[in-house]
Amino acid sequence: MSILVTGGAGYIGSHTVIELQNAGEEVVVVDNLVNSSRESLRRVEKITGKPVKFYEADINDAAKLEEIFDREAVESVIHFAGLKAVGESVEKPLEYYMNNISGSLVLFNTMRKYNVKNIIFSSSATVYGNPSFVPITEECPKGKITNPYGKTKEMLEEILIDIQKADSEWNVILLRYFNPIGAHESGTMGENPRGIPNNLMPYITQVAVGKLKKLGVFGDDYDTPDGTCIRDYIHVVDLAAGHVKAVSKLRKKPGISVYNLGTGTGSSVLDVIKSFEAATGVKIPYEVKPRRAGDVPVCYCDAGKAARELGWKAQYDLKKMCEDSWRWQKNNPEGYVD
Ligand code: NAD
Ligand code: WQD
Repeated sequence: MSILVTGGAGYIGSHTVIELQNAGEEVVVVDNLVNSSRESLRRVEKITGKPVKFYEADINDAAKLEEIFDREAVESVIHFAGLKAVGESVEKPLEYYMNNISGSLVLFNTMRKYNVKNIIFSSSATVYGNPSFVPITEECPKGKITNPYGKTKEMLEEILIDIQKADSEWNVILLRYFNPIGAHESGTMGENPRGIPNNLMPYITQVAVGKLKKLGVFGDDYDTPDGTCIRDYIHVVDLAAGHVKAVSKLRKKPGISVYNLGTGTGSSVLDVIKSFEAATGVKIPYEVKPRRAGDVPVCYCDAGKAARELGWKAQYDLKKMCEDSWRWQKNNPEGYVD
């Protein structure tokens, strides 16, 4: 039986495929490569020494999905596929709802048709909005979400909860990721944003490699110790390992479960810059800019539930995240080249 990984050619998906294959799982990847490259999976194959079964397909394409479910013995699905750029989602809400919501509905419907009722869904700390308390536990009420991307995560959580409520044969694990950064330690795989990065770490590494001149720090007047926002950065390999644990949990038929995946440690923007400089010896010129709309001041998790129930805990610290991000960027200044 296989684990079908939608979005498996992407940043988190490709690292998860490595961990799944290393754990002896059979993996089938479905990705339309809208934000990724076929090359990422070739690199996975080099690392694991195992072929990756890959279907280039859009999850909105019901006929194609049925073909895949006809051919493969799918036990469960890890659903990464989706568009994820917050700013772009404000400009193109319809594209985001079509891709993320409609695409997911087509996927869930196909799963039901083939009696595959086990799913792990990539959710996000964004569902907490501006959290009502930190560290954020899974009981923290969901907050006001200000962009369509975040709303798709919140809606898909609710949709899966309703599906499971109506049919207890479904097993659903919602994983709320905090801020994934870092890269595979081989330096051959990592995050490969198209165009100018929106997120902090890819921006920093592109400044470090000379593709961008200077980092803008979005606000230094927040109510935090150094005035910059605090986030819970988590190494992508730790995050990937969390999915392997979630697969084991899914086999115990949990019904519905939700877990925060983070380290539990908050770091400010200036902490990340300093840590990157210390880990790599590369200076990051920066300039303080106005606050970015929609940023919450402080967001970090209580990772205790995942530790207790999944037996998972993040292993890597910010220094290691910076070292690995840098190794990837330095060795692959243009990212993956197909
Ligand atoms: P990514 O863009 O690298 O990966 C997503 C993959 O999905 C890409 O390979 C893309 O080509 C594919 N895809 C998109 N739409 C598709 C469609 N209709 N059909 C088939 N494939 C499609 O992003 P990522 O950072 O690896 O994120 C993976 C998941 O985790 C996403 O759902 C994202 O929203 C979620 N997430 C990411 C973060 C983060 O900071 N990176 C944080 C929280 C949650
Ligand atoms: C981190 C910090 C910025 C860029 C986003 C999504 C969230 C989730 C993870 C998917 C913030 C600051 C950033 C820059 C900066 N994704 N920053 N200069 O916003 O915490 O989370 O990715 O679900 O939904 O919103 O991550 O990396 O963009 O920002 O100063 O050039 O770095 O203001 O404080 P964020 P990020």
